[in-house]
Amino acid sequence: MYYSDEIRNQVISANDIVDVIGQYVELKRSGSQYMGLCPFHSEHTPSFSVSRTKQVYHCFGCGESGNVITFLKKYNNMTYQEAMEYLASRAGIVLPKEEASPEQKERNKKRDILFSINKDTATYYYRLLRSPKGQKGMAYLKGRALSDKTMNQFGLGYADGGNSDLVRYLQEKGYSSKDILDSGVAVFREKDGLKDKFWNRVMYPIMDASGRVIAFGGRVMGDGIPKYLNSPETLIFEKKKNLYGLNIARNTVRNKDKDYFILCEGYMDVISQHQAGFPMAIASLGTSFTVEQAQVIRRYVTHVFLAYDSDGAGVRAAMRNIGILRDAGVSARVIDLRPYKDPDEFCKNLGTEEYQKRIDNAENSFYYQIRQIEGNYRLDDPESRTAFYHEIAKRLCGFDDEMERENYISAMAQKYGIQRDVLSREVAGYKEAGIGRQSFSEGPVRITPAPQNPTAQKKASSIEKAKLRNEGLLLTWISDDPDVYLQIRDYIGPEDFSEGLAREAAQDYFKMLEEHYGDPLKVEAEGTKAPGFTPAIVIGSFEDEDEQKDVADIFNTRIKGLTTQPEREKAFKDVVLSVKRASMENIKASNATGALGKIAKIKKQMEEIQRMHITFKAAEES
Ligand code: GTP
Ligand code: MN
Repeated sequence: MYYSDEIRNQVISANDIVDVIGQYVELKRSGSQYMGLCPFHSEHTPSFSVSRTKQVYHCFGCGESGNVITFLKKYNNMTYQEAMEYLASRAGIVLPKEEASPEQKERNKKRDILFSINKDTATYYYRLLRSPKGQKGMAYLKGRALSDKTMNQFGLGYADGGNSDLVRYLQEKGYSSKDILDSGVAVFREKDGLKDKFWNRVMYPIMDASGRVIAFGGRVMGDGIPKYLNSPETLIFEKKKNLYGLNIARNTVRNKDKDYFILCEGYMDVISQHQAGFPMAIASLGTSFTVEQAQVIRRYVTHVFLAYDSDGAGVRAAMRNIGILRDAGVSARVIDLRPYKDPDEFCKNLGTEEYQKRIDNAENSFYYQIRQIEGNYRLDDPESRTAFYHEIAKRLCGFDDEMERENYISAMAQKYGIQRDVLSREVAGYKEAGIGRQSFSEGPVRITPAPQNPTAQKKASSIEKAKLRNEGLLLTWISDDPDVYLQIRDYIGPEDFSEGLAREAAQDYFKMLEEHYGDPLKVEAEGTKAPGFTPAIVIGSFEDEDEQKDVADIFNTRIKGLTTQPEREKAFKDVVLSVKRASMENIKASNATGALGKIAKIKKQMEEIQRMHITFKAAEES
């Protein structure tokens, strides 16, 4: 995607470099500059400078320098495109979208074909499992205590003998050999051409978040090798971004009465937990859990329960993934499955109630990590014990939030009988030396600054949710009755909405409304229900399906049945005022230049809103 200089400049100047870098590097003012520890080389005294007037950074130590885009590319491994998108959305700028190029159109066409082949394949396996030819598969799944309902919900199927029945079936449906091969359900052999990839296996369709089949996992019945055979990566199947069961789990948090997923390791674990009444279970499918998957999770929830196998590999995975989740802003707790190996066995043996108890008693992830490393030391030996305490101190440095760190220092001191101030000094010492920043997890980059303190985080996220809800209500209200927009257009703008989707949606939508109402003749001719400015168009401008869904939600926030004019007026004003208040709080917190003026302006607007009279179209019976 090519952006004009004009757009690029707009994006750069809308993002103050000090604010952006300040999200990742602690900066202190020093004369006309801001200084901090250079994130690109290791140092103990700050030589990394950021200039607000010049909008560039420069390290006197290692020589790194650049603008806000260079910084994000380097620090977050973002592409130019990603950095532009991030910065634009941060500043509420909508980047121009290009007409799809011929190659993109070709690509989209191909994707559609692959989706279609996967869907037809899933149907084929599904029917086969439930036919006489599928008896063996059915017996296997029944033997694993799956109900018909569960099997149907997950679309389980069966691939029988080693023929090329599926390939033939797909060819008869009119798909080309090339497309069938590219979909990953078939393989090509010099000797005998196109063959089914899967045979003699029960089949688990893998779906994307919106429930489209994108790949398959096939499990051998019994002890064959490999136990699981999965589709290769294709144009529509990117392993590192996908989570099994997400298409179902996401519905459990739609209305946000729940705010967690259960993350486990296997297909069967997800399915069993689901059957036991825990539809919020998801799995990362064998491949090790990725930063991308953590970020996908963060779109839906801020808490995760880890239900990993209770063996060594499971513990190692938990240790590693706690850090990855934390860096993405998701806090984790660990479910103790002992004496069972995995959630599947646990649920089948001890049942729903016992499993719920284990969830309720899941261990704080920091305690879990410390308890695990404790096993590497001998606490009855002073030397080993000291080394263990040092390790605890180092890990405590990983808490960036001071209050949280203090709480954990107290907890650890008490738990292991360390003198609190000794531990506290030790932590301070490490902190000064710059140790600990990476102690939660090695490697993964932080793309959004993660909220650290669980309670503050919870509070922040509930405030955020309330804020988003009000913004959703406002947009929904306007989209139901666009005339009210005319009455408040001088008091509200996209900048009052939360950064990200809500603001983008508001921006697009208000722009459309302005275009429409800016032309009285058009209003006259088309009325306010003109098709030109429906929220559908706003939604359509988001490329990603998940985003489209989220935006659709924003426009569909429930408005309770308010019937009388005064009721409506009061409720509507409350919503507008809440959005303005939140916007003001946001400006206060940002400390941006010109904040005082903006705050004064909002205060004045709020007073005027209080005094306004707003009229609605005839209240509908609902
Ligand atoms: P069951 O043995 O049927 O209970 O399977 P499971 O889902 O509990 O799998 P397990 O705990 O053995 O492994 C966890 C996950 O790792 C599986 O769901 C697969 O996604 C993946 N996996 C396991 N074995 C293999 C394998 O042989 N090949 C591949 N590609 N993936 C595997
Ligand atoms: Mn298992």
